[in-house]
Amino acid sequence: MSNPHVQTTPFSGSDIAGIRAAILAWYDANRRDLPWRAAPGQAAEPYRVWLSEIMLQQTTVPAVKGYFARFLERWPDVGALAAAPIDDVMHAWAGLGYYARARNLHRCAQQIVHTHGGAFPDGLAELRALPGVGDYTAAAIAAIAFGQPAAPVDANIERVVSRLAAITEPVSPAKTLVRKVAATLEPRERPGDWAQALMDLGSSVCSARAPKCLLCPAVQWCRAQAGGAPEALPVKPPKAARLKRTGVVYWLERPDGALLVRKRAAKGMLGGLWEFPSAGWDDRLAPPTAPEIERLAVAWERQPGAVTHAFTHFEVELRVLTAKARSGVNLPEGTQWSTRDGLIGLALPTLMKKVARAMGLP
Ligand code: ADE
Repeated sequence: MSNPHVQTTPFSGSDIAGIRAAILAWYDANRRDLPWRAAPGQAAEPYRVWLSEIMLQQTTVPAVKGYFARFLERWPDVGALAAAPIDDVMHAWAGLGYYARARNLHRCAQQIVHTHGGAFPDGLAELRALPGVGDYTAAAIAAIAFGQPAAPVDANIERVVSRLAAITEPVSPAKTLVRKVAATLEPRERPGDWAQALMDLGSSVCSARAPKCLLCPAVQWCRAQAGGAPEALPVKPPKAARLKRTGVVYWLERPDGALLVRKRAAKGMLGGLWEFPSAGWDDRLAPPTAPEIERLAVAWERQPGAVTHAFTHFEVELRVLTAKARSGVNLPEGTQWSTRDGLIGLALPTLMKKVARAMGLP
């Protein structure tokens, strides 16, 4: 599809020089002080850049900050993280979501230690071959940690570039066009600062719904602003409706208040994390109930309402069934009792934390 508004290089050489200088000067004055960023003029540490970029995939800066600080304190370098038991890493990750990231993080740390002598590679292809590192993350690490002109494009950068160049095609087909324009705009000097300048500009000024064009250092070059409706860009392809899945979760109590918990299988949804035993929601073919859990009590009582949670591709609605455990029963494999205080030491995903909260735990 051709685009009437833009060629591959929509800006003249002097436009590009002006845009670069204006945005970098804005960044120098307005950059967010984030814990993974180096002080101005200093090189960012690859371990911090990699860790932050993995955490920031699908997750916001405010949600990541505390996790980042706790990881760094506990595992100050890639060797320490590689040597950590995976269960400790999963536990520290609990609540951030997308748990495949935590498993890949650990595998990646081990690969850095065992295959790369403990130092992150600086080449795009080698970075891209690491577990959990896709095109964007490889480019972000190359630019921010190693000063390479790799032109990463995340959602914020995509928005800024789409607007600057008035790219009106829906984003997925236009992504290559956005990438090309992003690559022509990127300076050879300070590519890491440039990428983060676009991220900061996109999150604070060139925001999705109400861009603050009066505050924008690049407004004089912005074709979407000149067209009068910058908020209309980028054009997103229509979203598929999210499926809803329902299931049950079993809240089984022993007379001393201990609760039944189970470690989920290592593979699949929320793999390796802990749960109050549940059934029916995590796979289209999953059995709707768990008879091996139901036999542990004489009678189950359904609690009013439901616990809901949105994953990327589907929504979950869990009905909570409560009961007192029969005495003298053998527990099914993989399950165990946990005191209420002991729950803190388990890697519980957000869905299960919501169940605990619905049952009155903090
Ligand atoms: N999102 C992804 N990477 C980021 C970074 N380095 N700074 C701010 N936001 C980000």
